Amino acid sequence: MPSIMPIFGTRPEAIKMAPIINALDASTIFDCIVTVTGQHRDMLDQVNEIFGIVPDHDLNILRQGQSLSSIMTRTMDGLDTLFSKAKPDAVIVQGDTTTSTAGAIAAFYHGIPVVHVEAGLRSGDLMSPFPEEANRKMISQIASLHLAPTRTSQTNLLAEGVRPEDIVVTGNTVIDALLATVNKPIAFADLHLEEVAASGRKILLVTTHRRENQGEAMRAVGRALARIADAEPDLVIVLPVHKNPAVREAVLPALKGKLNVIVTEPLAYGEFTRLLSLSHIVLTDSGGVQEEAPSLGKPVLVMRDNTERPEAIEAGTVALIGTDEERIVKEIDLLLHDQYHYDSMANAVNPYGDGKASNRTVAAIAQLLGVGIRDDEFTG
Ligand code: UD1
Ligand code: UDP
Repeated sequence: MPSIMPIFGTRPEAIKMAPIINALDASTIFDCIVTVTGQHRDMLDQVNEIFGIVPDHDLNILRQGQSLSSIMTRTMDGLDTLFSKAKPDAVIVQGDTTTSTAGAIAAFYHGIPVVHVEAGLRSGDLMSPFPEEANRKMISQIASLHLAPTRTSQTNLLAEGVRPEDIVVTGNTVIDALLATVNKPIAFADLHLEEVAASGRKILLVTTHRRENQGEAMRAVGRALARIADAEPDLVIVLPVHKNPAVREAVLPALKGKLNVIVTEPLAYGEFTRLLSLSHIVLTDSGGVQEEAPSLGKPVLVMRDNTERPEAIEAGTVALIGTDEERIVKEIDLLLHDQYHYDSMANAVNPYGDGKASNRTVAAIAQLLGVGIRDDEFTG
C-alpha cells in the first residue's frame, strides 16, 4: 500500500486539506501519514478537531512573532528527520504558505514526489500577496503533480511550461469543506453572535491578516470600520480577529467602545461558515473567504490591489477595493444603500468548485502512484 504524507501548518491549509485526508482514508488504498508543522497552533488545532483529524506527526514549530526564515528552516529541519524515518511515497502540500514551500523543497531534496494542491494561482505580482505569490511559483518548479482548481490556474501553469499531463483540474477543496459544513446546525459560542443572528440585523463580516496590509494599511481599515459603525447604527460589524498580534495592534484601537462592532477570537470553521451565510456584505483580504463567499451569494469587497483569484471578479460577485479608508467607506455605503448595485453583486456562483475536488485529488494521486486512474476534471 503506497504511503502518502499530507503536510500542512496553517488554518486555511487545514481546511482545504481536511476533505482530502478524509477521502484518502475512505479510499483505503493509501497509508495516510498526517503531518502538521504547527506554523499556526490554536487556529490549526481548531480546524483539525472539527474535521476529526489527528496528526501522526507534529513539528510544533510556532514561535510568537516568527520570521518567514524561521518557519522555513524549522520545518525543513523537522521534515529532514521525519522523511529519513517515514519514507513516504509522495507528499501533498496545499497552496502558498511557507509550510507548503518548505514541505515541497524538503521532499524534493529527499527525492519524494510532490503533489501540489491549489496549483497555478497567479497574481502576476511577486510582492503581492507576499511571500505567497513567490512561494506558490517555487512549488510549481518542483511538483510532480499539479492540481489546479480552475481552468485559469491550469492555463497559468501551461504558460509556464508545466507539462499538460502533469496537471489535473480538480476544483478547490475549500468548496468541499464549505458544503460539508455550512448547513450543519451549529451554535455560536459567543452569545452576542446568537443575539445578532436572532435579531435579523444586517451583518458586515470582516477579516484581515495579510502581511503586506499590516501597519498603516490595516490602521486605515480600522478607521474606516469605525466610521461605518458610527454612520450605520443598525448595521453590526463582526470581526473575528486573527491571532497575529501585529493585526490586533493595527486594527483594534479605532474600534474601542463601538457598540455595533463585535470583535471575536478566530471562529471555529462551522461558526464562521454560519456567520458567512448570515452576512449581508463581506470585507476581507483572505484568499479562502474570497472563494467561499461567492458560493453563498455574498458580495465580497477585497482589501487588496490585485488577486490570484480572478474568477469571482469576472462573475461580478467580488470587487477589488484596496485599503484606502475613503474607498472602503464609500464602497460599503454603496452596497448598503444602492439596492441595484447590491443585487448585481449578490449572485451565487461556484467558479471554484462543485464539492468533488477531494475525490478528483485522490484519483489523480492514485494514478501518479500506479494504483488507480484519474476522474473527469472540474469544468466550472
Ligand atoms: C500565514 C500564511 C498566509 C496565510 C495565513 C492564514 C505564510 C508566509 N503565511 O500567515 O499565507 O494566509 O497564515 O491565516 O505562510 N499566531 C498565533 N497562533 C496561531 C496562529 C498565529 O499566535 O494559531 C500568531 C503568532 O504570533 C505568529 C503570527 O500569528 O507569529 C503570524 O503567524 P504566521 O503563520 O507567521 O503568519 P500568518 O500571517 O498567519
Ligand atoms: N475562517 C475560520 N474562522 C475565522 C476566519 C476564517 O474558520 O474566524 C476560515 C475561512 O472560512 C476560510 C479560512 O479560514 O476557509 C481562511 O483563512 P485565512 O483568511 O486565515 O487565510 P487565507 O485563506 O487568506 O490564506
